[in-house]
Amino acid sequence: KKLTIGLIPADGIGREVIPAARQVLESLPKSDSSPQFEYIHLDAGFEYFQKHGVALPEETLVRLREECQGALFGAVSSPSHKVAGYSSPIVALRKHLDLYANVRPVASVSGTTQKPLDMLIIRENTECLERIETDANGLRVAWADRKISEFASRRAGTMAFNMALMRDKLRRSTSAPSLWQGPPKVTIVHKSNVLSVTDGLWRETVRAVKESNPDLYGSVTMEEQLVDSMVYRMFREPEAFDVVVAPNLYGDIISDGAAALVGSLGLVPSANVGDNFVVGEPVHGSAPDIAGQQKANPIAAIRSAGLLLEHMGYASEAARIYEAVDGVLREGQICTPDLGGSSTTQEVTDAICKRL
Ligand code: NAI
Ligand code: MG
Repeated sequence: KKLTIGLIPADGIGREVIPAARQVLESLPKSDSSPQFEYIHLDAGFEYFQKHGVALPEETLVRLREECQGALFGAVSSPSHKVAGYSSPIVALRKHLDLYANVRPVASVSGTTQKPLDMLIIRENTECLERIETDANGLRVAWADRKISEFASRRAGTMAFNMALMRDKLRRSTSAPSLWQGPPKVTIVHKSNVLSVTDGLWRETVRAVKESNPDLYGSVTMEEQLVDSMVYRMFREPEAFDVVVAPNLYGDIISDGAAALVGSLGLVPSANVGDNFVVGEPVHGSAPDIAGQQKANPIAAIRSAGLLLEHMGYASEAARIYEAVDGVLREGQICTPDLGGSSTTQEVTDAICKRL
């Protein structure tokens, strides 16, 4: 089957790690059942905005919708001050394609981290945004609209419970030892002791996903964790988590913390998932401090290509990519400076391709 993948490197190290992910996809062994890839290069990002006045060109959106079955996004450099006319293209993309859940697996490769962990963070992907308006005196009023809707919370919650069941099924079907031994578990992150209206609705809605579907989700344990103690507990006993589901901003923060536990932001992938489209995207940003120097760890982007395949229904191709990556990490010889090595982006990519 032919699969057309949109490649959107965007800014900074996105331009180094997205070509690496493509090289890995092209190195997958060919079989009758494996897909045949075609790629379309698409523009977006802050640098593109500086040249053309738009961060997400219409053509990128149209070609994604009409020609692609999935996409890989690198990273954008978003300025920390407000730039007139600029807004983040990845936020816009998530919105336009209704990619309502950001799925972020964070797992350690045995023997490479101090504490083992194997968790899947589901980050609600469409809410908690902001707006600005001008008051009667022409002065600016900034609102952090902490919108939490029953609709979005239910979709994110449903994704979390489904993923918990899927992971459980996968663990049962493989002989490899798994870190998580108990029944599948979903941890709901919130701060409804303080934000009782917004986070209260989030908590109640996600809980109701399980409570109103006892036949489907009865086997899944449900627990809650306030976001601050979530950070504390995650650093002390990361092995205590299976699937974690959080509102947009909390999910963002927790995932960078989890990345520290596995050794680098350069290792953690994500998939922006909707009902009709998937965009793979490393969790890290454009890393201007190392961009253009072949120092970027390509593994987050390569694993994101795996996640993209997984969510498009090609689980065995995805598993091959994960195994090749884990193999290189376990060997520990070839790694980029973020993991204490001195290999280049290209050398790590080549090592993974060789294993494939
Ligand atoms: P960052 O994730 O770009 O970098 C944080 C630190 O981790 C840096 O020291 C960087 O060198 C390191 N790092 C990140 N990815 C790495 C990789 N693959 N290999 C090795 N080291 C890696 O976050 P930062 O510095 O806060 O933001 C930089 C820019 O990226 C900002 O403009 C920010 O807005 C943007 N950003 C974009 C995101 C996206 O596109 N989804 C997400 C996060 C930040
Ligand atoms: Mg982030």
